[in-house]
Amino acid sequence: MSKRPSSTRWLQRQKKDPYVKQAQQSEYRSRAVYKLKEIDEKDHLFRKGQTVIDLGAAPGSWSQYVARQVGPQGKVIAIDILPLDSIDNVLFIKGDFTEQAIYKQCLYSLDGQNADLVISDMAPNISGIKSSDQARSMHLAETARDLACQVLRPGGDVLIKIFEGEGVTEFRQGLKEHFRQILTRKPRASRDSSREFYILARTFRC
Ligand SMILES: C[S@@+](CC[C@H](N)C(=O)[O-])C[C@H]1O[C@@H](n2cnc3c(N)ncnc32)[C@H](O)[C@@H]1O
Repeated sequence: MSKRPSSTRWLQRQKKDPYVKQAQQSEYRSRAVYKLKEIDEKDHLFRKGQTVIDLGAAPGSWSQYVARQVGPQGKVIAIDILPLDSIDNVLFIKGDFTEQAIYKQCLYSLDGQNADLVISDMAPNISGIKSSDQARSMHLAETARDLACQVLRPGGDVLIKIFEGEGVTEFRQGLKEHFRQILTRKPRASRDSSREFYILARTFRC
């Protein structure tokens, strides 16, 4: 039997995926929103008026969800290498967040204020070389953590996408130095076959 190409397998999976269907029938741009929504429903992340930084924001479903949760008094700063169609009440910065200039632009956009929450769904393009993919994904997670430690108000939270593998234990350990509580979340919309999960570090203590 001939093996189906991965693009065909991907299409088949998309067709069967209930979260893809749900997203298509909603105003959300991606199924990724259901991961954030599930975590939020459990952990109550968002409140009106908050300032939230969304890293790896395209195509924008997390930003859509967060903008609605924080309301017009809140502020959402979204960053991605890829373009993002505009979303009401979301300030978008296009660029690579690991570059100094983009990191600084993000700080500048806060206008001297602290953030209440940093959320990162950043994921590198997969090369297929496991060790370098893992190193790149840990680098993205570390950059998100560094930003969180620089901009969060005391008591703030950070939610970071992680891929299980080398470096995760040390990463979690590092977070413990700055946050009171470290939680692991694997929402139902995150496929069982994926090594992805989320670390929620709560109550920043500087
Ligand atoms: C899984 S998608 C995010 C989906 C998004 N949360 C949503 O709800 O639509 C991961 C994103 O991370 C972005 N990304 C990866 N590396 C990045 C980097 N160094 N700087 C900024 N964005 C990055 C990718 O371009 C991609 O759009």
